[in-house]
Amino acid sequence: MSKLWGGRFTKATDHLVEEYTASITFDQKMALHDIQGSIAHVTMLGETGIIPQDEAKQIAAGLQQIEKKVQKGEVQFSIEDEDIHMNIERQLHELIGPVAGKLHTGRSRNDQVATDMHLYLRDKVEGIIEALQQVQLALYEQAVEHKETILPGYTHLQRAQPISFAHHLLAYYWMIQRDKERFQESMKRINISPLGAGALAGTTFSIDRRRTAELLQFAKVYPNSLDAVSDRDFIIEFLANASLLMMHISRLSEELILWMSQEFQFIELDDAYCTGSSIMPQKKNPDVPELLRGKTGRVYGNLISLLTVMKGLPLAYNKDLQEDKEGMFDTVETLEGALPLLAGMLATMKVKKEKMQAAVCKDYSNATDIADYLATKGIPFREAHRIVGETVLYAISQGKYLLDLSMEEFQRFSPQFQEDVYVVLQPQHVMAARRSEGGTSPEAVEQQLNLAAHLLQEDGVLKHQ
Ligand code: ARG
Repeated sequence: MSKLWGGRFTKATDHLVEEYTASITFDQKMALHDIQGSIAHVTMLGETGIIPQDEAKQIAAGLQQIEKKVQKGEVQFSIEDEDIHMNIERQLHELIGPVAGKLHTGRSRNDQVATDMHLYLRDKVEGIIEALQQVQLALYEQAVEHKETILPGYTHLQRAQPISFAHHLLAYYWMIQRDKERFQESMKRINISPLGAGALAGTTFSIDRRRTAELLQFAKVYPNSLDAVSDRDFIIEFLANASLLMMHISRLSEELILWMSQEFQFIELDDAYCTGSSIMPQKKNPDVPELLRGKTGRVYGNLISLLTVMKGLPLAYNKDLQEDKEGMFDTVETLEGALPLLAGMLATMKVKKEKMQAAVCKDYSNATDIADYLATKGIPFREAHRIVGETVLYAISQGKYLLDLSMEEFQRFSPQFQEDVYVVLQPQHVMAARRSEGGTSPEAVEQQLNLAAHLLQEDGVLKHQ
């Protein structure tokens, strides 16, 4: 098969070179976007009179036929045609004959490939935003159930203060909210047309870039042809946003894994989201959150790869740029795999309230509250902190928790301790006392829930109550 660019050559390409330089094995994922871009381009060529209207229509009709064949998986791609662009053009030749050769008028593969990636990523990011909304919905719905459920809150992975389980889940809700906003904001830079930039300098044909942008529903066109074909910032930004998102998912996964351990026993993931061991019959392993945590690594890797590919590249197109695709596809597919699993796993997770409640009764995480209690009675907070520190030390030496101490024992440390200290020390009271905005009291959590509900309603994923 002769090359579409074969005129300048006297020898066939070495087969190893052909294999090494081809991208068709992976860029066929953009086949439909490539056809979409070509249809817009040829429509514009016809409208502007650059090629005759009837020929433009014939080419567009041919492309539509190939589109159907691609959708049905009937197109055979070949490595001799190197990439998706030339494979589609070859198909068109076979279908409609030499007139197919007019499609590439006023265009280069350099603006074509960039267009394909903008179109591909626009579609994929829209889907990712919707999948993120489902994760948020799952977090929200569990939070609604567990406003009053008490969980030990940790700092340094040491018991710190009891908190509402809903509060903990909502922390992830807000992280995902920021991720979603980042993807939404990035659309501004994804939804822009490089088509018509040509190889690097524009074209001698009187093309209409605004028209192709309009046909492809791009919000604007790149103002500079060199930038249009050299820019991969929008992919790097996507990979960076995906990395941040995966970091959040990984932290949540880590907590789910810890909480499901024998040592914590705070939650149990549904059987449908766990797997067993081939040797230890008793085991139920949290493989899904482990893999979510593990897959974070490849997404970071994809970001670093592309940043590194780009760092020394002179303008404009260089073949190195072909290395921009696999990491992008891999990241898209990693997110597409992860997000529905995460949503389903959260929605079906069983929360062991009694275990969480039992845990907060067996620690000193109510100590801050009696330091605050003494401070309200006029003792400087630093002094109160010392008194309570000594009280805790004493309680530990006696093998008791603070609630087990008698009034006589309390008063050895300060005469300001009165009977009401036993109320203040109750975990439920400790949680409820943190009423400040964004705090963990049920009222403050209710405010967060209202705000979250409002945002989910705006996104159309939660019905108005
Ligand atoms: N397969 C190429 C890529 O993915 C398409 C652009 C090729 N352009 C060129 N001048 N060789 O980057």
